[in-house]
Amino acid sequence: MRTGFTLLAMFVAAVAGSPSFRSMLVLEQRSDVPDGFVKGAPAPATDILNLRLALKQTNISGLQSMLLDISTPGNALYGQTLTNEEIESFAAPAPETTSLVQEWLASNGITSKTISVTGDWIQFSIPVSQANTLLEAQFTVFNHPETGKQFTRTLTYSIPASLQGHIDLIHPTISFENPFGLPVVASPKVLTPPARRSTNLESRAVPASCNTAVTPSCLQALYGIPATLATQASNQLAVSGFIDQFANQVDLTNFLAQFRPDLAPSTFFLLQTLDDGENPQTPADAGVEANLDIQYTVGVASGVPITFISVGNDFQDGNLEGFLDIINFLLAMDTPPQVLTTSYGQNENTISAALAVKLCNAYVTLGAKRTSILFASGDGGVAGSQTTRCTKSFLPTFPSGCPFMTSVGGTTGITETAATFSSGGFSNVFAQPSYQTAAVEAYLSALGKTNAGKFNTSGRAFPDVSAQAENVQIVVGGETGAVAGTSCASPIFASVVSLLNDRLIAAGQPALGFLNPFLYSAVGSAALNDITTGDNPGCGTNGFPAKAGWDPVTGLGTPNFSKLLTAVGL
Ligand SMILES: *[C@@H]1O[C@H](CO)[C@@H](O)[C@H](O)[C@H]1NC(C)=O
Ligand SMILES: *[C@@H]1O[C@H](CO)[C@@H](O)[C@H](O)[C@H]1NC(C)=O
Ligand SMILES: *[C@@H]1O[C@H](CO)[C@@H](O)[C@H](O)[C@H]1NC(C)=O
Repeated sequence: MRTGFTLLAMFVAAVAGSPSFRSMLVLEQRSDVPDGFVKGAPAPATDILNLRLALKQTNISGLQSMLLDISTPGNALYGQTLTNEEIESFAAPAPETTSLVQEWLASNGITSKTISVTGDWIQFSIPVSQANTLLEAQFTVFNHPETGKQFTRTLTYSIPASLQGHIDLIHPTISFENPFGLPVVASPKVLTPPARRSTNLESRAVPASCNTAVTPSCLQALYGIPATLATQASNQLAVSGFIDQFANQVDLTNFLAQFRPDLAPSTFFLLQTLDDGENPQTPADAGVEANLDIQYTVGVASGVPITFISVGNDFQDGNLEGFLDIINFLLAMDTPPQVLTTSYGQNENTISAALAVKLCNAYVTLGAKRTSILFASGDGGVAGSQTTRCTKSFLPTFPSGCPFMTSVGGTTGITETAATFSSGGFSNVFAQPSYQTAAVEAYLSALGKTNAGKFNTSGRAFPDVSAQAENVQIVVGGETGAVAGTSCASPIFASVVSLLNDRLIAAGQPALGFLNPFLYSAVGSAALNDITTGDNPGCGTNGFPAKAGWDPVTGLGTPNFSKLLTAVGL
């Protein structure tokens, strides 16, 4: 009886509707599908959609300026860490926002659950037929013939006009995932004889073999990275894993035996999982990307506790939800890892501006807890995350356009030059943050008219820094071989940051946290090796040339560990 009553009440509410929710307006739409996708049939009416709704946050710009304050050396607030309560005071939605949206959903018989620490994301599951009506949408199956993948999306959707200003977006709707998933560009099947060399920090000469086979000892010699063990157990470096990329312990042990014989053979990484993630250990399950990321953190950040965070697929499809979930997973911890490296990304134009902004703001919240967030910049030069067909404008990548993370591009050779695939450029969504204005203006004036009209001079420019990204030796499924991609560079740079944090923590000082205000400062940029040659062709152009100072191929440059130690005050 009770059940019958409830259903009847909901039925009445749905039919009557609430007058205040009747008038609708378009919240987001896109005129065309991203390159490579083809519109298919209407999505089956009874298919269940797991929709996520982003509520407007009360004062996210206030949190952004707090993050800049606590991350800018010399600022009175430099070095502080915000508590979750403080973060919520900026990043939670207003109570009125939450209750209005709940009222709308309830009037349609929909119950939701909160899926973010700050309460600004909720999730609910409804059939396609109801979603089409509720949101004035046309959920359709979009095919990606090259990969055979399918995504259910709509090119437009609406919300009640009375909820404008309360709802930022609903996902997945007009944003498309990266169907390729990951940016490693070369296959490890190409076997290269590994350069064996004992690790001797004092020997400054970089072996010539490092020109064709990059190993941890090459990086130690090239960047002055210490081989001695880090000492601080509280210092954590997290490596994110998506799309069934699994990190293999036996391969790591094999890798260390070949390339870091000075480390204990028992050296291991920790595992955490979310969204039904796992990390199976059969050799055939070992992923190129996951093994690369683990081998170039465990093998470079000597002695730093490394955690592989395997994000499963327990959401609608693709990995953009996973990008949000891993941040909330870390935010929920009392002491999240001080560094997070991610080698996944996609073209900025495949996702809606509102979603890009919302994910970027999730990085703001984790940054407020002093986690350095690093991403590979992408592997398509100026043509995007992979080489994408582009006719008019260059294709910036996501999340490199977000001003509150650190984007890592790629170099090659022991006289370092830009890797040709190193993605770089200017966001069309995010405005240029003040910490990089001077560096970017200097580059643009040196660049002159080259590529004029093909990029957005007012956008957030990337990458911020770079590291070795070609001929990088890894072990996968027992085989040793070389890979290339900015996927190599992000874990390497993240390892350097973790080793700096180890020294800072040992000295009783806070971890570096959000890096960019420090990196772009006079003292920070002077501690990097400026890369001034090479370019990143794409879109029928030579791309951007690397130049003295910051450039949109190699950023500010590659690390010099001893100079960085001095720059952070040690
Ligand atoms: C947002 O936060 C900033 C930084 O703390 C503060 O100055 C500003 O007054 C806040 N704005 C609102 C509307 O609360
Ligand atoms: C780092 O910079 C210092 C100071 O310029 C220099 O002496 C040293 O050789 C550099 N280290 C490496 C590994 O290049
Ligand atoms: C250029 O970037 C700004 C953000 O800085 C953005 O508002 C604008 O829409 C972009 N222009 C184009 C043509 O995408």
